[in-house]
This record gives sequence, C-alpha cells and structure tokens, in this order.
Amino acid sequence: MKITFFSTQPYDKIAFNKCNESFGFEFEFYETHLGPHIVNVIENTDAVCVFVNDKVNVEVIKTLAAKGVTTIALRCAGFNNVDLESAKANGINVCRVPAYSPEAVAEHAVAMILTLNRKTHKAYNRVREQNFSLNGLLGFNLYQKTIGVIGTGNIGKAFCKIMLGFSCRVIAFDLIANKDLEAMGVEFLPLMDVLKQSDIVSLHCPLMEQTHHIINKETIAVMKKNVMLINTSRGGLIDTKAVIDALKSKQIGYLGIDVYEQEEKLFFRDLSANIIEDDTIQRLMSFPNVLVTAHQAFFTEEALNQIANTTLTNIQEFSQQKSLTNKAAQLV
Ligand code: NAI
Repeated sequence: MKITFFSTQPYDKIAFNKCNESFGFEFEFYETHLGPHIVNVIENTDAVCVFVNDKVNVEVIKTLAAKGVTTIALRCAGFNNVDLESAKANGINVCRVPAYSPEAVAEHAVAMILTLNRKTHKAYNRVREQNFSLNGLLGFNLYQKTIGVIGTGNIGKAFCKIMLGFSCRVIAFDLIANKDLEAMGVEFLPLMDVLKQSDIVSLHCPLMEQTHHIINKETIAVMKKNVMLINTSRGGLIDTKAVIDALKSKQIGYLGIDVYEQEEKLFFRDLSANIIEDDTIQRLMSFPNVLVTAHQAFFTEEALNQIANTTLTNIQEFSQQKSLTNKAAQLV
C-alpha cells in the first residue's frame, strides 16, 4: 500500500520512516504543498498524507478520486484546509491526528507569554553584546493575573492547567463548559466577559465559520488596555489588520502568534535570501512587542512520534475496516 506525502520536511521523513518499520507501507515524499498545481503527479497511491497548509479543495479531491486515492490523512489536528463535503461525496476517507501532544502546543503558548513578558529574547542578545543594563526589560508577575482561554479542548485544557500552576485566575469561553476544569477552579464565562476581564487572552478554538476573525475591531475594543494576545491555533481567528491598528493604538500591548492568516506562502521555508512581498507580516514583525514563530507549537519529539504513529494507524485501519478505533480521528 502506497502513501504519498506532501509538504514534507526532513523531520517528517525521519519520524515516519522510523515508525513505518512496524507498518511496512511504501512512501513517496514531495516537499511541495498539495494543490491543483501538483495533484496530477500522483500515481498508484492509496492515501495522501497532508499538513496544515496543503490545499485539499473540491478540484483536488475530484482528481484524487479519479486517481483511485481512498484516504486523505491529515498529520495534524486542524482540518479547515480540507473540503470534507467533497471528500464524502467522492467516497474518500479523511482522518487526522486529534490529540498528539496537546501539552506541546500549550507549553509553546506559555513560552510565548513568558518571552513577551520577561523579554528573554532581548536579554539574550543584549548580554552577548556585553550590555548588562535592565532598561526596557521590565515585565510583570503572572501570579494572580487573569488569563482568558478561548476554547478548552485538548490544548486549551492543558494550557489552563499550566496557568493554574502559576496561581493565575483562569477564565474561559467554550461552547460547552468543561466540568473537570471547573472543579480545578476555571470559571466559564460568556466570550465578551472573558475578553473584558483578561490580562492575557489565549486562543485555542478551531478555525470555523463561527470563529473566523473572532478577534476583530469590536472584540478588541472590549479588551483591557495593554492586553496580551496569544494565538497558537489558526491565523484566521484574528483579523490581522484590526490587530495591527490595536498595536499602534497600544490597546494590544503584546502579541504572540505561532500562526498567521497568510502563512502558507511563508511558513516552513527558509526565505532568508528572499524579498518578502507580504507587507502585513513585515509590519507585524517590526513591532518590538510582537513575537512571531512559524507554526512550531506542535514541534516536539514526542509530538512527531505520536503524529506518525496515529497517522499510519488511521491509514491501516481505514484500509482494513473503513472505521477507526480512534473515533475523533475520523472526519469522513
Ligand atoms: P479540540 O477539538 O480538542 O478543542 C477545540 C475546542 O474548541 C473544543 O472544546 C470546542 O468546543 C471549542 N470550540 C469550538 N467552537 C468554538 C467557539 N465558537 N468558541 C469557543 N470554543 C469553541 O482541539 P485542540 O486539539 O485543542 O486544538 C485546537 C486548535 O489548535 C486546532 O483546531 C488547531 O487549529 C490548533 N493547533 C495548532 C497547532 C500548532 O502547532 N500551532 C498544533 C495543533 C493544533
């Protein structure tokens, strides 16, 4: 059975090849994104394995079906880049890795908070230049600050637990309140109340029609002046233009983003010798109080191994029985 990978990075090959020792699939790796421009190269493939920025739209899915592909396996949790209805209509199975290491993403969100707050990225450079002054490095205690969490699924829950460990007041908005978190002291409130009361807002809900630009001019306006906003979820949750305006007016005092609405043209590549044409990301990166990482929140050894194992298990189960043991992994 053959699996064709898109958006492959060297670390993907290492993790999947190692894991495949106990599966025995045939692999073909492409570095390019899957999209209409490349889908025709696929031959004699049972499954395609894709990542966050592959474009699996109606056109691509129709070609996949015509070429006999039976499974689209996402090696990530989010699935906003796959047209599920079209996959269903074309009889293609779709699976994902619902929870490979929620702690990896939650811990990265916390790393962003601590970096923005205590400015360790600046201190590192300063000290290397023998500049031992503290001017400009002033932070604030996280102790007893109010942290607002939007979305308390696997990652949001792991994030809440860490922030409770800092003795923060943790308040949250989700469509369904999580009883375990409530028992630990997390208060579930309406979205606007969470935004109004939080010193730090961290986004952990999926990107869907209802959550697209959940952070916009109106929702930013209700937030505390100088709020810290963290997004490790999906770029489309934030109206970037509104956020830039709020950074200029100092309504947002700190921004940490691991995801960006137009990231597919930038992230996961070395563009250090290129001219970046995206003026929005350039503007964002020019603020001293903005930290951008290139979709690396998931990137731990544990997570990569788990991703490879779950993805190959999903594909194997689909090929054998057409329904998955890990129910949350099955999208179509
Ligand atoms: P999950 O499915 O376990 O949790 C999502 C939560 O969001 C659920 O509790 C759900 O009820 C809630 N939700 C749905 N609609 C909502 C709304 N309108 N308002 C508030 N909450 C809402 O997902 P998980 O594993 O926690 O992942 C969350 C997101 O993190 C993923 O969708 C993905 O986009 C992103 N992610 C980012 C990674 C990175 O490397 N930066 C890696 C993995 C995931």
